[in-house]
Amino acid sequence: MKKLIFATNNKHKIEEVSSLLSGKVEIISLAAAGLEGEIPETSDTLQGNALQKAQWVWDRTKSDCFADDTGLEVEALDGAPGVYSARYAGEHCSFDDNIDKLLRALQGETNRKAAFRTVICLIENGEPHYFEGKIEGTILTERHGIRGFGYDPIFLPNRYAVSFAEMPLEVKNLISHRGLSVKKLVDYLVKK
Ligand code: IMP
Repeated sequence: MKKLIFATNNKHKIEEVSSLLSGKVEIISLAAAGLEGEIPETSDTLQGNALQKAQWVWDRTKSDCFADDTGLEVEALDGAPGVYSARYAGEHCSFDDNIDKLLRALQGETNRKAAFRTVICLIENGEPHYFEGKIEGTILTERHGIRGFGYDPIFLPNRYAVSFAEMPLEVKNLISHRGLSVKKLVDYLVKK
């Protein structure tokens, strides 16, 4: 069976992708591949960071591998926090700090359009391939729901009546940026 190293130590991400590829491709975590250390993420684009992370694994293993990077892009803020979504309120900030900062930045703003975007970079035989997933929605004026993580309580996907944090995970995974990007990767891999 084909093996792919996923450049993440996030168990939830490994499980999600492994279940979608079960029986077709074996997903190997960084730890299982014997890789340790902080992977640099210094690009100012999602695509650049995904490539940087996948390249870090390729350079050390010469094995096929992939990495992902996600950002929340808010129209009225010219695409911020974007690639800096994890540390929008500063290094080591919490999800709540990020939400508070975003709500403050959008106080009184009527254009609340936003999108989550995920870019996956697969390196196969040394060549990068990109897969993108995007979901559009709006930023709520206050938190709704307690599920999920990150900006979920203030993100209302278009055509839905509830925030990401009010949805069961299975529903969110079906429509989310990450779910869509993973589906494109899976479609590419199983067609081979
Ligand atoms: P990562 O590239 O997957 O680590 O995502 C970067 C940051 O984007 C996270 O730290 C979260 O703040 C935010 N984020 C990514 N995916 C989601 C999501 O599904 N819901 C809410 N926030 C997310």
